[in-house]
Amino acid sequence: MMEFNSNHNSLDAARVFDKEDALAKFRNEFHFPHAPEGEDSLYFCGHSLGLMPKRTEEYLQAELEDWKYHGVEGHFRAKHPWLPYHENITSSFAKLVGAKESEVVAMNTLTVNLHLMMVSFYRPTKTRFKILIENNTFPSDKYGVDSQARFHGFDPKEAIVELKPGSNGKTVDPQSILDQIEALGDELALVMLGNCNYLSGQCFDMEAITKKAHSVGALAGFNLAHGAGNLLLKLHDWNVDFAVWCSYKYLNSGPGGLAGAFVHENHLGLKDIPRFEGWWGTNKQTRFKMGPDFDPIPTVEAWQLSNPPIFQLASLRSSMSLFDEATMPEIRRKGDHLTAYLEYLLKENCHDVCEITTPAFESGKQTRGSMLCLKMKSDPKKLVDVFGKKGVVLDFREPDILRVCPAPLYNSYEDVFKLVKIIKENAHE
Ligand SMILES: Cc1ncc(COP(=O)(O)O)c(C=O)c1O
Repeated sequence: MMEFNSNHNSLDAARVFDKEDALAKFRNEFHFPHAPEGEDSLYFCGHSLGLMPKRTEEYLQAELEDWKYHGVEGHFRAKHPWLPYHENITSSFAKLVGAKESEVVAMNTLTVNLHLMMVSFYRPTKTRFKILIENNTFPSDKYGVDSQARFHGFDPKEAIVELKPGSNGKTVDPQSILDQIEALGDELALVMLGNCNYLSGQCFDMEAITKKAHSVGALAGFNLAHGAGNLLLKLHDWNVDFAVWCSYKYLNSGPGGLAGAFVHENHLGLKDIPRFEGWWGTNKQTRFKMGPDFDPIPTVEAWQLSNPPIFQLASLRSSMSLFDEATMPEIRRKGDHLTAYLEYLLKENCHDVCEITTPAFESGKQTRGSMLCLKMKSDPKKLVDVFGKKGVVLDFREPDILRVCPAPLYNSYEDVFKLVKIIKENAHE
């Protein structure tokens, strides 16, 4: 049910939704930071850093014990041997992003993976060298594409093309993205978009964009920092060429957690693809013969460089076990309802205070995920101050944007109701 009415504008109604919520039991799987008065904070920052799963302590402790008792032999004798440890994540990641197991790997961090992917999939020529990005790209992504263009001898001012925002000045008209790809035509080398956009919460139709990019001879890659664990993804079926994501936001793997990478099987097993290589990408059977020649693993694992950080992988394994249990379709189903509830309460109670700039929900389309971006109509500093005192955690982006993310795995309808009440009571000058 996505229709709300005035009967739902109460704490009692929120509590009824919580009682009916099939994912409610997962809330107790997480630690909530304490508010100044000692109670659990109202945490709405899963789009930035997800909460710590209680089971992570146990997962990490197990690896510490194995190191303590086995030393180097832990690579073989640990309960989960370290040598193939990253493989513990593979099936969870495949389900998460809609991929074959050969197409996904947990490795490195996000911006590193973005560069590794562009080394392979941004192969400009004199005439086809442009990269299409969002108009409000996350700075690291912009630095990434600019430096890749420069690395190949192009001026970013010519090579990097930003999407044109629509007439509302906030989001991009979906059809205009396809039109812009068409217009760039044989000058376009790569479409490189974030999904969802980190500042507006707008989601893009990855399938349509990829198809259009391919039709003009370009490739399509996506940064899913705000998509993995948030959106329903079918990267394989959509023919996406590559994607990268981090795991510390919606995936709750902890600060600086490992990133993911997807390479479509169309690009796997090619011996001549340009790629930066390291020993963790070479044939597992012969790796320890320590030979001089690289023999790429025929999966996306060929893009791995170093032997991976086991503690980070353990923490990711812990958090992915929760996603395996909850499943993405259920997470998105609750996410759509919970975010729609937040939207309803804000419109009902705070329309004079803020405007929601994230696109509206549209049945059958993925126009947004769980995060809503609010453009504050008056100076938000006072409100931000109140949030600090009351233990409300969300984030403020200068000059006037509040980003609020009710995370379906751990936020309740009651949390959402309480947040809107605080905004309503404190936002006025
Ligand atoms: C869209 C986007 N791109 C890139 C980054 C940078 O990620 P990292 O520091 O893990 O490389 C972030 C981090 O928040 C992000 O949201």
